[in-house]
Amino acid sequence: MDIIDAIKTRRSIRKYLIKKDVQDELIFELIDIAKYAPSAGNVQNWRIIVVKDKSKRDKISRICDQLWMNTAPVHLVICNDLTKIGELYGKIGREKYSRQDCAYFTQNILLAAHALGLGTCVVGHFDDLSMKNLLDIPDNALPECVITLGYIDSPPAKPTNRKRIELFLYLEKYGNTGGRSMTPFPLITKAKQIISKNKKSR
Ligand SMILES: Cc1cc2nc3c(=O)[nH]c(=O)nc-3n(C[C@H](O)[C@H](O)[C@H](O)COP(=O)(O)O)c2cc1C
Repeated sequence: MDIIDAIKTRRSIRKYLIKKDVQDELIFELIDIAKYAPSAGNVQNWRIIVVKDKSKRDKISRICDQLWMNTAPVHLVICNDLTKIGELYGKIGREKYSRQDCAYFTQNILLAAHALGLGTCVVGHFDDLSMKNLLDIPDNALPECVITLGYIDSPPAKPTNRKRIELFLYLEKYGNTGGRSMTPFPLITKAKQIISKNKKSR
């Protein structure tokens, strides 16, 4: 699977083959791929807790208030270590760069897992303090998200739904879509031509 196929066909999976374990070697490989994500100053402030223990996964699912998470044999808890990035960049490092770094790392995991034949879903809805207490996350770190991981039981029924580019692409300044009179938006027409040419040459 090439990177473009991976980006376009990845979906959030919320039903897993609970009895089919994910081998440690595969989890390790996944993380070893994801670590090539960019990060501010190459600080690599992400930390990742691999949770396979059933009672812990039950607790995580409850903290997230999403019991479907129980069907995933692995939970990957992405944490953000604020120490070094804060020392290097201060407030902007702690509040902005550190979270962006973790997001790039997370996206790498989602795409690499998909390419390796595994399903994932990002879960961002949880109480930070409860998650910190459960997993012994120290004061200088934050839980950013949980990624459920496992072999897919059933993929989502609905096809991927994404906004048309015209709805979020602006020219030169925020909000400038080129004006109503300019449809089709010339930049988009050009972009579509380039995309289709590139597809043909691949
Ligand atoms: C920051 C973030 C938080 C999310 N939190 C949840 C969540 O709590 N529960 C859930 O089922 N999905 C969650 N998702 C998954 C989104 O619902 C999903 O990515 C979106 O609907 C698009 O579907 P797709 O991933 O299949 O393309 C989250 C995604 C992101 C990026």
